[in-house]
Amino acid sequence: MPAKLIKGGRLVTPAGLINGDVLIVDDKIARIAPEGLAEGETPRDAEVFDASGCYVYPGFIDAHTHMQCWTGMDWTADSFETGTRAAACGGTTTIVDYATQDRGMTMPEALAEWHKRADGTCTANYGFHMAIAEWNGQTKADIPLMFEEGVSSFKTYFAYDHLKLDDAQTLDVLETIKPYGGILCVHCENGTVVNELQRRVFDAGVTGPEGHPLSRPDEVEAEAIARLGYLAELSGARVNVVHVSTEEGLKAATAARDRGVDVAIESCPQYMILDESHYLEPDFRGAKYVMSPPLRQQSDLSALCEGVLEGDVDTIATDHCSFNFFGQKDRGIGDFRKIPNGGPGVEHRPVLIMNLFEDELGPEDFCRLMSENPARVFGMYPRKGALVEGADADVCVWDPDVEWTISMKNQHQAVDYTPYEGYDVHGQPRQVFVNGELAVEHGEPTGTLPGRYVPREGAPATVTAKAGNCRCIW
Ligand code: URP
Ligand code: ZN
Ligand code: ZN
Repeated sequence: MPAKLIKGGRLVTPAGLINGDVLIVDDKIARIAPEGLAEGETPRDAEVFDASGCYVYPGFIDAHTHMQCWTGMDWTADSFETGTRAAACGGTTTIVDYATQDRGMTMPEALAEWHKRADGTCTANYGFHMAIAEWNGQTKADIPLMFEEGVSSFKTYFAYDHLKLDDAQTLDVLETIKPYGGILCVHCENGTVVNELQRRVFDAGVTGPEGHPLSRPDEVEAEAIARLGYLAELSGARVNVVHVSTEEGLKAATAARDRGVDVAIESCPQYMILDESHYLEPDFRGAKYVMSPPLRQQSDLSALCEGVLEGDVDTIATDHCSFNFFGQKDRGIGDFRKIPNGGPGVEHRPVLIMNLFEDELGPEDFCRLMSENPARVFGMYPRKGALVEGADADVCVWDPDVEWTISMKNQHQAVDYTPYEGYDVHGQPRQVFVNGELAVEHGEPTGTLPGRYVPREGAPATVTAKAGNCRCIW
């Protein structure tokens, strides 16, 4: 593979914004050259890419996706092949996907299955969280093996009958992964209450998509986040509250942090851009926005944006979980409970966030929220998430001036809609490199498949367990 010289860009580095060149040799960043590389320093066969007028970012990381996955209602529309290609087209060079241990399956079996689905098909890199759907002696015994395999983050659910664990099991998971430096990502909705409210809403005659948010009010999220905060406090383990969607939920998460809990807070573009009025779109089109947690009120959108600006929100991911409208979402006509939950987004996150916050945030902030922090929280930093010498050559050359309109017609996500149809935006990757290979040029894939599995490490917990004291009684 020839060396690559990215020339004359505005480099987004941990040391600040620098004008200069980036030299890629093989799959690593070989040089960061402020003011540019001298002629003799450039390998003769190097391909040169003009980055003038562009920002050069470490590739973006989306730490919350569901590709090629059975979600209890249907298979997602995007495979690893289409999903990571779409991700790369938008500037994302690594995803961390939720491998899921269905009940009756061990975690090693689930991990092997996810490798089978992803290996050899990916444009962007991929790591795996392990979602634990069944907590028993076998699952517990398999935890060390997961760390050996580079899986240092786990997920549990407080909702969805086929996935959820109870509070005692959640506490045990936290205590089990803590010594390895693991982090537990938790879907925070009170599933028992959701089931009851779904029944009430449906029995009251509300059968369309507008029933979805009515059955999952803010309190359902806030209560679960608060509960997780206390379980995390008891265990002293690291937790990640995923897809925070409400002001009250954010308050519950920051309250835990204020008590000293080691909590990373994630939100997603949809919860800062789209409000619940979308559920009222005619012809059942509100089903496109059926995801859990649901879209919220304008006041929640503002609170989450404020949370980003204040530094309360650590990472922005997508929860990409795509289903077609025709043939998948429309199966819930007449009963909103049967609409597959989830929406697409992996391709559009960087451009949406840069446009949403263009007056308040700059390139270093975008880098922190969408590359550096996900790499730090999930054990990949500084191999990923930093434009530094020796790091993996995952690089996004971002041209902020390209104007375009988001549409299902120009997207690469393999799904028949985008929630952002018709949004006028500016900014697009001019080039995207994955492990040193040119994967995308001017927003279009080159057809290469350089994506690799990313084994990840744990990070030591910094908080002492409070529940530990009661263990010695037994
Ligand atoms: O509705 C959603 N978000 N589906 C994906 C699974 C999850 O809850 O994260
Ligand atoms: Zn979730
Ligand atoms: Zn999810």
